[in-house]
Amino acid sequence: MKVLVSDNLAEKGIAVLRRTPGLQVDVKTGMSADELISRIGEYDALLIRSATRVSADVIAAADNLKVIGRAGVGVDNVDLAAASRRGVIVMNTPGGNTITTAEHTLSLLTSLARNIPQADDSLRRGRWDRKRYQGVELSGKVLGIIGLGRIGKEIAGRAQAMGMQVVAYDPLLSLEEARKLGVELLSLEQLYPLADFITVHTPLTEETRHLIDRRSIAKMKQGVRIINCARGGIVHERALYEAIVEGRVAGAALDVFEQEPPASDNPLLGLEQVICTPHLGASTAEAQEKVAVAVARQVADFLTRGVISNALNMPMLPPKAQAMLNPYLVLARKLGSLLGQLLRAGVQVREFQAGLAGEQLLQHAGVIANEMLAGFLSGMLPGRKVNAVNAASLAGEVGLSLLPPKPLLETNYTQQLSLEIATARGPRSAAATLLSGKLPRIITLDGFKAEFEPAGYILVLFNEDKPGIIGNIGTILGEQRINIADMQFGRSSSRDKAISIFRTDSPVPERLLPRMEKLPHIHSVQQVLL
Ligand code: NAD
Ligand code: MLT
Repeated sequence: MKVLVSDNLAEKGIAVLRRTPGLQVDVKTGMSADELISRIGEYDALLIRSATRVSADVIAAADNLKVIGRAGVGVDNVDLAAASRRGVIVMNTPGGNTITTAEHTLSLLTSLARNIPQADDSLRRGRWDRKRYQGVELSGKVLGIIGLGRIGKEIAGRAQAMGMQVVAYDPLLSLEEARKLGVELLSLEQLYPLADFITVHTPLTEETRHLIDRRSIAKMKQGVRIINCARGGIVHERALYEAIVEGRVAGAALDVFEQEPPASDNPLLGLEQVICTPHLGASTAEAQEKVAVAVARQVADFLTRGVISNALNMPMLPPKAQAMLNPYLVLARKLGSLLGQLLRAGVQVREFQAGLAGEQLLQHAGVIANEMLAGFLSGMLPGRKVNAVNAASLAGEVGLSLLPPKPLLETNYTQQLSLEIATARGPRSAAATLLSGKLPRIITLDGFKAEFEPAGYILVLFNEDKPGIIGNIGTILGEQRINIADMQFGRSSSRDKAISIFRTDSPVPERLLPRMEKLPHIHSVQQVLL
């Protein structure tokens, strides 16, 4: 498998990739968009930081790409929607640069309060200007943190240690969690007029783009100081410039910019009240090593063992639930694939609904149903690349409505999975369980009870419940020297219709299926591979 590293990644991370058997690693940084587009087709994995822009055009050219690994947090340089449509997993490395970025923010905070870069520059120019660079004390001041996630929380504790009162706005944080941190959770309307310093630590989203603009600045305390160590674009640069010139904002510290690097005529760079760093938030040897090693391990684990961690564009299980639920995910995929393969013959599918019994399965119904959907669509559309990342968008393409997973109330099994598909020709369904918690079994198919192992080549026959079926099918298989591994039968309560399942040790040539269908009392014969 081929891995491309297109941004500067710490050597230790590259070494992890190079040590992984089966991976061929190319490091090529500083490529133009066109060069990346021309080369990406041959790679299975792409490792980036923030410099490489993975646009929809890059993804369209990425015929073999399975995973994009971001050494760092923000993935606003990746077209996530395009990656998801193509089934490319996008993973990041949360946490690896949290402390480093929190420390950088605090460096900017103290520098901003005491005019350190300006005073340093002035002194080097031969001046001794103690009056001009008088600062403000941090102790007793209010720090408003917008986005109290990993970095925001680290900053809160450190700012409190310096005697600051910390207030925050974060729509996803509970009051209880904020209370434990000693942080007062406020609305933005409450935070703006209260804070002496405001620092943003949210991702850049449609909601946070230009969160700090002329209107929000108008609500802030006169003389507020603003720090952006998160993402360019959260602060409206023109509005910030004007507010500083007007004296509403006393100063700003920026590590990130709407355009990086910022244009040399960016007016903010000309203001003495503004201090800047070139996106250095995560730039320490420690953090770069941590994120590089983390992303390299994650990508290597995925390519060599199929283990997915920190994926941003697919539903994920919490690590603790992963081990327990893995066999059910495999079963869900097979159950989906079974019905998908049986419906391959061009029947219009309309609705998809997973059913689950068992508390733990129900707790993670979304992830399990998504895996079942991926199995169903890959069974139904053998030419398409389907996985848990693009299953939902592909369902839309084939006109399949996804109904919410439902609890199975009437079942004799403590854990059970089921799938119901509404089609233009009526409903289809199947159910499965793990016997004794470990032996995968299909337990019903289209309402017939027929317990069989979902593994290998399987002939599925719908027939009348008449003698002679086994003998006739057995004869044809025998002629072809195809060994039957096991057989199962089920019939309707009215005893007229039946299902016959033959698991074979080798595939039955497709040309034999119509011959079998012509045998007496047989309605249909299909072969699936599970
Ligand atoms: P995180 O996901 O742990 O925290 C983000 C927080 O923002 C979450 O708690 C979330 O609830 C909150 N949030 C989301 N939308 C919000 C909104 N509209 N208003 C208020 N809060 C909102 O992420 P993190 O690891 O703390 O990173 C935060 C930001 O810092 C990201 O944008 C990341 O890309 C950036 N970052 C920058 C650097 C750098 O070099 N300057 C380094 C690391 C991270
Ligand atoms: C991040 O989102 O992790 C940072 O911006 C750091 C980086 O780009 O390296």
